[in-house]
Amino acid sequence: MNESAKITLRHLGAQLRCEPGHHSLLDALEANHIDVEFQCRSGYCGACRMRLLEGRVDYIQSPLACIRPGDILPCCCLPAGDIELEL
Ligand code: FES
Repeated sequence: MNESAKITLRHLGAQLRCEPGHHSLLDALEANHIDVEFQCRSGYCGACRMRLLEGRVDYIQSPLACIRPGDILPCCCLPAGDIELEL
């Protein structure tokens, strides 16, 4: 990701940015003090699973945990443009 992407958190009514220095979407959320549950940080436990409402993410590594359509694992993806999360 070369440019920052806008992340909208629908329930919290907040907006933040994922910057090029962030290694994952989870990194960007944590850098903005958003509490996200996690364990493995590498896509296999599913603990960080959340709903993507708008936009698209690119996986840095293929998620191994089972995810339903519309779910994402923020520990192993980055936004591909502006996104909205159900947080
Ligand atoms: S923290 Fe384990 S899949 Fe994201």
